[in-house]
Amino acid sequence: MPTAPRCDRTTAWAALQGHFQAHGRDFDLREAFARDPGRFDSLSLQAPEVFADLSKNRLDLATVKLLCELARECGLEARRDAMLAGEPINHTEGRAVLHTALRAPQGQGPFSDEVHEVLDRMLAFAEDVRDTARSGIRHIVNIGIGGSDLGPQMVVPALDAFVHPGLTFHFVSNVDGHDIAPVLRRLKPEETLFIIASKTFTTQETMANAQVAKAWFLQHGGTDTRRHFVGTTTNVKAAAEFGIDTTFGFWDWVGGRYSLWSAIGLPIALAVGAEHFRELLAGAHAMDRHFAEAPLPQNLPALLGLLDVWYRNFHGFGSRSVAPYHQGLKRLPAYLQQLEMESNGKCVDLDGEALPFATSPVVWGEPGTNGQHAYFQMLHQGTDVIPVEFILVKRPTHGHADLQAKLLANGLAQAQALMLGKTTEQARGEKAPTASATLDAQTLARHRTFPGNRPSTTLLLEQLTPRSLGALIALYEHRVFTSGVLWGINSFDQWGVELGKALCNDLLPRLASGDTAGLDSSTAGLLKKVRA
Ligand code: F6P
Repeated sequence: MPTAPRCDRTTAWAALQGHFQAHGRDFDLREAFARDPGRFDSLSLQAPEVFADLSKNRLDLATVKLLCELARECGLEARRDAMLAGEPINHTEGRAVLHTALRAPQGQGPFSDEVHEVLDRMLAFAEDVRDTARSGIRHIVNIGIGGSDLGPQMVVPALDAFVHPGLTFHFVSNVDGHDIAPVLRRLKPEETLFIIASKTFTTQETMANAQVAKAWFLQHGGTDTRRHFVGTTTNVKAAAEFGIDTTFGFWDWVGGRYSLWSAIGLPIALAVGAEHFRELLAGAHAMDRHFAEAPLPQNLPALLGLLDVWYRNFHGFGSRSVAPYHQGLKRLPAYLQQLEMESNGKCVDLDGEALPFATSPVVWGEPGTNGQHAYFQMLHQGTDVIPVEFILVKRPTHGHADLQAKLLANGLAQAQALMLGKTTEQARGEKAPTASATLDAQTLARHRTFPGNRPSTTLLLEQLTPRSLGALIALYEHRVFTSGVLWGINSFDQWGVELGKALCNDLLPRLASGDTAGLDSSTAGLLKKVRA
């Protein structure tokens, strides 16, 4: 497909620069709400399963219009359609990008027969294991890293209310033995199913942990490795060489960080069962349709991706904090770190030319309200402006209505406090019982001033179900795609992880031999220290 111009070479970019100077740099949220009583209605929208309030962001409808023009000039819609049609848009690896095909109903997406054959087989297997009286399985251990770990590790606790009560899930990823050792201590071979999850089946950490698990299994009286080890991989041959003959495959057009919908989702299927796994896919598919069909000004993933560009490249905000007000989403920030930063942490465009502008922000966060008692101080009064994304879930799956009310009030209050702030005059008029009695009133008031005008987005789910979670994750995937297209980068390769892997392979034998020839003096010195 012909490449559209990169964002900085469009007329909309120049128009946005002018717009930023005139209306963006000094944009004040409090004034914007005072000026426009319809601001909430015009800057909020309902997408499948997710309601989004964008009104506490530093933009107005004129900004949205210009950002949508930018998206059109950068060919966002054409590139989206090319992705959905299976064109090889991951051009540095010569691959299509078709995670959306994994959640398309039978007969509706590319590779439908292959996708549904594996899906049906995997879900049937999951149901067999979930019949714990017959299978005898009580513990599931997923051994994988990156995209072969973070998706299932995030989704299983998020869907805790739907998880099989007789199964315990463990996720081992790190090559640090402190990860696997405490897990193995809690297991019995006859009750354990190990899933070796690796797209390539060559990843050092996963292969090393898989060998440790297999050795432990045999040393502890395990007798039937073929029944207790399964593989989820595109490399069936390597899995067979490891001694695995139950394998659920997928394809090179599924990127690791986009793979929880594939066989990599097996732990999720084991946890919540076939019906709920299909619901997860259906929720994601609904968001795919929304992304494919909604006009840009009402297209939530596109709008969030455009907002990211507006903040990163015009306002210069370097990070975004994610605050899920649902304890089940505690691993969402880690999941999003890979999704966003491995996808868009790039410094060259599609032609390999160095980019003259910033790309992926740092994405980080913790569940609310815990974050409030740790780093929210900085969000409110620090020197950097950090947009926050609040994720609220209206209806809990527990019966503690009082806790839920407090949780929601906290989430709403934080967004409000970030926006409203507090003037020094307001602070002076208040009592501060814990303040020093010897400090003068004006100095104290300055310490208790909040600049406000700090932006946030609120995403609201009715309930955290397989369907709404599927939609939420797909929303993030397409948002990352959107900003990647505008920045003119390939969001689907990850060459940045290669160098460290190669150097590790060089250092590993040196750790045994002590050979430091040719190393920089820092690495040589440290190598000697760790060997001493
Ligand atoms: O090192 C990065 C990476 O390639 C990720 O992109 C991927 O999700 C992860 O490693 C695991 O790879 P695999 O599934 O092949 O073991």
